[in-house]
Parts: sequence; C-alpha cells; structure tokens
Amino acid sequence: MASSVYRTANRDFPGILCLDDFERAARRVLPRPIFGYVAGAAEDSLAFAGNRRAYAEVELVPRVLRDVSRRDTGARLLGREYPAPFGIAPMGLLALSAFRGDLACARAAQAAGIPFVIASSSLVRLEDQVKAAPGSWFQAYLPGEPNRIRALLERVAAAGVETLVVTADMPVAGNRENLVRAGFNTPLRPTLRLAIDGLARPRWLFGTFLRTLLSSGVPHFENSFAERGAPILSPTVQRDFEGRDGLNWDHVASLREQWRGQLVIKGILDPADAARARELGADAIWVSNHGGRQLDGSIAPLRALPSVVEQAGHLPVLIDSGIRRGTDALKALALGASFVFLGRPFNFAAAVGGERGVAHAIRLLREEIDRDMALLGIEDLAELSPNHIRQANSPAAG
Ligand code: FNR
Repeated sequence: MASSVYRTANRDFPGILCLDDFERAARRVLPRPIFGYVAGAAEDSLAFAGNRRAYAEVELVPRVLRDVSRRDTGARLLGREYPAPFGIAPMGLLALSAFRGDLACARAAQAAGIPFVIASSSLVRLEDQVKAAPGSWFQAYLPGEPNRIRALLERVAAAGVETLVVTADMPVAGNRENLVRAGFNTPLRPTLRLAIDGLARPRWLFGTFLRTLLSSGVPHFENSFAERGAPILSPTVQRDFEGRDGLNWDHVASLREQWRGQLVIKGILDPADAARARELGADAIWVSNHGGRQLDGSIAPLRALPSVVEQAGHLPVLIDSGIRRGTDALKALALGASFVFLGRPFNFAAAVGGERGVAHAIRLLREEIDRDMALLGIEDLAELSPNHIRQANSPAAG
C-alpha cells in the first residue's frame, strides 16, 4: 500500500479527489428526487449534521519518528481478514442511482476484498448479488410475522449468505419531509416533475432508467421476503413495509435459534441495548443512526461508541453514519470500533461511475487510511487506542 500514497488522481475521474467530490458530481447526474432520496436526512437534519460534527470535534494526536515504513491497512472481523477496515453499508433502491447499482457496488467490493451488505429493500435479487460477490452480508428489515421471517431466513441461507444484519432502528419510517419536497415517493409515481427532471439528466434517463426498464422491466422489491415483493410503481409497496413496529427482543431471541450464521444487530446507540444483543447471542453490534435518516436529534454514533464498546464485551463493534475520510475511520477505530461502514459516498460513486466509480471511492479511502496511519505514527490498526485522540476543546493531556 505504501507505494500508492500519492496516486489519488485518476484519469477516469479527474476531479474526484475525495469522497465528498462524488456527491457534488452525483448532483449533476441524478434527477432531483433521486438525489434527494440518497442525500437527505430526517426532519431538520440535526442527527445528520451531528454525525459530521462528532468527527470534527475529535482531534488526532500523532506520534513521530516511529518507522512507519511497513504499514498494513488490514483488519480482522468475524473470523475474516480484510485488506481495509471498511465496508459498504446496506442501501435500498441503489438500482435507482445507477444501472443495477447493487451489482456495481458488490463487484467493486469483491474486487477490493471488502465487505458489501445486500439491502433487503434492494431491487436486484439477493441471489444475483451473492453470485457477484460471494461472502456478501445480507441486511434484513424483519417482516412482522414469524412464518415470513423463517421463510426469508431459509432463502438467505440457501443463497449462501453467512452473515445476517438485522436493522433495528426502523420500527416505522423516519419523517423524511425532504422526500416530499424533492418529489420522491414510494411507490415511485411517474410524475411530470420526475419526467422533466429525467429529461434534464439524459445520462440517468438512458443509462439507468430506460436501460433498467428495457432489460428487466419495472423493478420490484426483490428481497424483503422469501417471495418477490411489489413493483416500485405499485401502491401495495406501502403495505409490504407495515408490521415492523411490533418487532422486539423476543424476535431476536428466536431468530438466534433459527439462524446458524453470524448475526449482527444494526442501529444500536444505547449501551443497555448493546448488552441485550450480546446476551441474546449476537456476534457483532453495529452502532448507527441510519445516517441521520431515522430519529432526528439522535446521538451521533461516534459519541455513543465508547459506552457501547464497554457493554459489548468481547463482541466486535461496527460503526457508520458520517464517515467520509480516512481520519474519520481512524478516530472510530481509536475509540474502540473494529470496522467502519459508509453509505452515501458509495451510492454517489455508483451514480457517477458505476462499478469503476465505486472502485475509485474504495481506493481513495484506503489510500487516505494508509497515509493517515503513517502521519499518525502507526503501522498496524491494532495499535490505535484512545491515546491517539483527544476531544477538541478539552485540556491537552500531559
Ligand atoms: C440507507 N441505509 C439503510 N440501512 C439499512 O439497514 N437498510 C436499508 O435499506 C438502508 N437504505 C438506505 C438507503 C440510502 C439511500 C441511504 C443513504 C442509507 C442506512 C445505511 O445502511 C447507513 O446506516 C448510513 O447510510 C450510514 O450513514 P452515511 O455513511 O450515509 O453517512
């Protein structure tokens, strides 16, 4: 990794030097309703802004003259070695951002050897995604009824998935006023506004929308249940998402008995919930506020992290929401996370450049982590500890 430290510019993506550049570029590629769906957050975006602020308020304390010439960005998680300590978080409707966007992300993740999490609200069959990237994880929003849960788990296991992520922070959908303002609906209604916007974004209209319709017809929610879900244009879509508000820890307990693979609970922010997940046999805890898309004003995962790590015991703790830089990843790892995940940047990268765009995003972040490790004075991520960070505005140690 050390030799590629300065090779950030890429001929195919000349202006894209950091992950946030993908968002700026995607704004020009995606129709406003779709861009708003990906970029937006709940209500007043307090949680969304707080996620970034939490990272800005942690400072790194580098150590110098330590011979950092043999750096390794690799990390171990759930019995596997990964070449970098980050993965692609589950995102529904990725195929609206890019042609078969899930496969673009899955293939780029596979090529780079990092984990990709298939979303239950995706529009590409999970079996096809696993084929593109064996070893992918699967994220479920559990349907309310036990028989439907069982059937879904059987399908997921039959596809060869070993790691199941249960997202627990969506008993109901967050209040996304921005979607209404941006003109985004599920079911997706072919409104005049979408048509006008689509015409103004011909690359998306032809390269994603029409290409999808011509190749496989109207996309369906493919992975919410054992059976195929509703088409995205259908009014019954809403009904498919009902019944999640009854989910509780008893479901997790019975799920643990049914699911033989690894179980990760995503959306944990409270240390008592982390302890509960551990006691019920989870294999990892994923600290997340859904990128600020669910409860507005919810605590930033980075701030919740230390107390969750304390209660997680021997379990690895994963984190997402607001990570955009190598330095962000290092801050989370220093505070006790074992691995980090990112959502929006990879979605925008797929919109801008398909699989090659996602590969470029992965490369940029990995190069940042490698460079930042050298600047921080470490060769191995396992060396990171709270001694490498300081809360801004708190008195310096020593
Ligand atoms: C999401 N997220 C999400 N999470 C999940 O468990 N299931 C899902 O279907 C989705 N769908 C989804 C769509 C889009 C467009 C976004 C941006 C996010 C949340 C996601 O997994 C992750 O928690 C956040 O994206 C992390 O925050 P950042 O990296 O986007 O700031």
